[in-house]
Amino acid sequence: MAQQEDVFKKIVSHCKEYGFVFPSSDIYDGLGAVYDYGQNGVELKNNIKQYWWQSMVLLHENIVGIDAAIFMHPTTWKASGHVDAFNDPLIDNRDSKKRYRADVLIEEQLAKYEDKIQKEIEKAKKKFGDAFDEAQFRATNPRVLENQEKFDALHKRYQEVMNAEGGIDLEGMKQIILDEGIVCPISGTRNWTDVRQFNLMFKTEMGSTADGASTIYLRPETAQGIFVNYLNVQKTGRMKLPFGIAQIGKAFRNEIVARQFIFRMREFEQMEMQFFIKPGTELDWFAKWKETRMKWHQNLGFGAENYRFHDHDKLAHYANAATDIEFHMPFGFKEVEGIHSRTNFDLSQHAKYSGKKIEYFDPDTNESYTPYVIETSIGVDRMFLSIMCHSYEEQQLPDGQTRTVLHLPAALAPVKLAVFPLTKKDGMPEKAQEIINDLRFHFNCKYEEKDQIGKRYRRMDAIGCPFCVTVDQQTLEDNTVTLRDRDTMEQRRVAISDLRGIIEDKVSITSLLKNLL
Ligand code: GAP
Repeated sequence: MAQQEDVFKKIVSHCKEYGFVFPSSDIYDGLGAVYDYGQNGVELKNNIKQYWWQSMVLLHENIVGIDAAIFMHPTTWKASGHVDAFNDPLIDNRDSKKRYRADVLIEEQLAKYEDKIQKEIEKAKKKFGDAFDEAQFRATNPRVLENQEKFDALHKRYQEVMNAEGGIDLEGMKQIILDEGIVCPISGTRNWTDVRQFNLMFKTEMGSTADGASTIYLRPETAQGIFVNYLNVQKTGRMKLPFGIAQIGKAFRNEIVARQFIFRMREFEQMEMQFFIKPGTELDWFAKWKETRMKWHQNLGFGAENYRFHDHDKLAHYANAATDIEFHMPFGFKEVEGIHSRTNFDLSQHAKYSGKKIEYFDPDTNESYTPYVIETSIGVDRMFLSIMCHSYEEQQLPDGQTRTVLHLPAALAPVKLAVFPLTKKDGMPEKAQEIINDLRFHFNCKYEEKDQIGKRYRRMDAIGCPFCVTVDQQTLEDNTVTLRDRDTMEQRRVAISDLRGIIEDKVSITSLLKNLL
C-alpha cells in the first residue's frame, strides 16, 4: 500500500514536471482541488475528449451533440432536486477545526477492516505457498473472522443510517463515528460536532443588485443542460426515439474532502450522454450501454482485470438501475464513470416546473409519452488520471539505468512524433524541419535539438511520445532516418517518404474507433 502511495506521489510530481497538470494559480501556492492543464496535459485531455465525442457522435447516427451554457435558470436546480438534496453530510473536529465528510470517515473505517483481513491473507499466502486455500482461511482464521464480523456489523449500521426514512440519519452517523472510536487524523481526538448537511453547489449573483439580482448556481453536472434542451433538439433535429444527446463541459462542486489530486476536484469536466428511450425498454438499454461503455474503456488496452462494475444497491428514488465503471488506481478501484437509468424523472420535473409539455409523439404507436433516459456520465479528469496511472513506469534497463516512460495509447499521446537532428550543423536541422513541415498537418510533431540524443529520447519517453526520428549524415545522402519506438526502444532505418504511412494510422483516434464497431 505504502509503495502504491509512493508511486502515486511520483505520478503527481511527474504531471507537474512534464507540463501535464499544475496546481491552479501556482505562484500563489495553488487553490484547493483546482488544477490547470499544461502544454502536454491539454493535448492528452483533448484527445480523450475526442475519443469519447467521436465514439458517441460519429459512431452513432442517432446521437447528436450540444454545448449548453454553464449558467442556467435557477429553477433548473429546484426542478432537478439539487437545491434541496445535493448535499454531503459534514462533521467538524473541534480541536483541529478540520471538516470531514462523515460518510467518508465511516467508509475509511470499513476499508481499515478490509485491509486488516487482506494483510492476514497476504501473510498466510506467503507462509503456505501453493497449498494456501483462501476460502478455508477466511472461514477459520480467528483474526480474519473477528475483523469480518466488525466489518459486517458496521456495514449494516451504515446502510441503515444512509437509507433511513426521510433521508440520511445524521444523528445515527455521528453515533457510529463515536462508537467506532474514529479520531481526527490531525488532532487525534474524538471531539466531534454534530453531523449536518452541506449543499455542494457554488452560488453567485447575476445582474446588479439595483436590477434585482438573482442567485444562480455554477452547474454541478452538465446533464441538466441536455434535459432542458430535449425539446429543442428533438424538434429541430427531427429526432426519433431512441436518440441521444452528448455534451462535454465544465461542472463545479464545492467538495469538502478534496483529495487524490485530480480525482476529486471543485472544478472539473464531464462527458455526459442522455439516451432518450421508450418507457419499458430501459433495462435493455441500460444493459447495452453498460457493455458499450466498458468496451470503450477496455479498448485502450490497459487490461480487463483493471476494470469492474460496481452495481448500486442503494438507488436514488428516481433511478431503477445504476452502476459505476471502476478503474484500478494506485489507491484502489475507483469510480470513473456512472451509468444510470433515470426513468422520466428529470423531464417530468422540468415539465412541472416550467409549465411546458415535454413529451414525445410516437408515430409508430400514435401515443405521446415522456421519454425515459439512460445516462452515461464520465469525468474527463478521472479518465486522465486513470490513463496517467496506468501508463507511468519506472523501467529498469538492461544496462542498469532506469528510464521513466509513459506508455500512453499512441492515439491519446500529446506528441506523436519527435524529430531530432543528430547535430546542429551540416543541414541536419533544416532537414528535420522539412520532415516536420510535411507531417505536421497529419499529427502533432515536435522538433528537439538540445542535448545528446539519449537525453532527448528520455524527455520524449517521459511525455509518452510514441515515435522519435533522428536525422543524421546518412539522411542527407539517402533520405532515410532512424525511427525509434517508445515501448520497445527498437530503432530501424526507414525512408522519410514512408514515415507518414507507418505512423499516421497508429496515432489516429480513428484507429481506436475502428475497434468499437
Ligand atoms: N449526471 C450524473 C452525474 O453527474 P456523478 O456520478 O455525480 O453523476 C459522474 O458524476 C462522473 O463525474 C463521475 O463518475 C466522475 O468521473 C466525475 N466526477 C464527479 N465528481 C467529480 C469531482 N469532484 N472531481 C472530478 N470528477 C468528478
